Amino acid sequence: MNQLSRLLIFVTFGVFVAACSDPATITETAKPDPWAALSDSERELLRHGEARARSCAACHGPQGISRNRMYPSIAGMSAKDMTTTLQAYRSGEIVNPLMSPQARGLSDEDIAALAFYFTHLQID
Ligand code: HEC
Repeated sequence: MNQLSRLLIFVTFGVFVAACSDPATITETAKPDPWAALSDSERELLRHGEARARSCAACHGPQGISRNRMYPSIAGMSAKDMTTTLQAYRSGEIVNPLMSPQARGLSDEDIAALAFYFTHLQID
């Protein structure tokens, strides 16, 4: 048997195995929805946070995961840290030419929603 026919058998077998695998098994092993346990008011907070977080993505990356060393990743940050940090940028306790103007326009509700949203992002 030459190299090519061996390769063909190998590939055919691979396709066969792939075709036999049951998609239901994939669904069963999927991670449980981390948002399923949230109450209606928490979901509302999450929606507010998600909407408000759109402007953060330009620097901190989509879903708070930065691809640029200049900007820290903020996904998964604790709600407490996120809240105190955003308040500190807003009050001028921490000053950064890029970040300070972003925090200045945030209301207390925005900060609570953003903190809740970024804490609930799944990082794989
Ligand atoms: C124009 C770019 C830019 C945008 C837009 C922006 N940020 Fe930032 N952010 C920064 C930079 C730069 C830093 C790091 C500042 C420093 O080192 O003090 C930072 C830091 C932070 C930190 C502190 C992270 C840490 O590890 O200490 C948080 C939290 C944060 N940003 C949240 C947000 C949120 C929430 C938004 C959207 C409302 C946002 N940022 C929008 C540039 C930006």
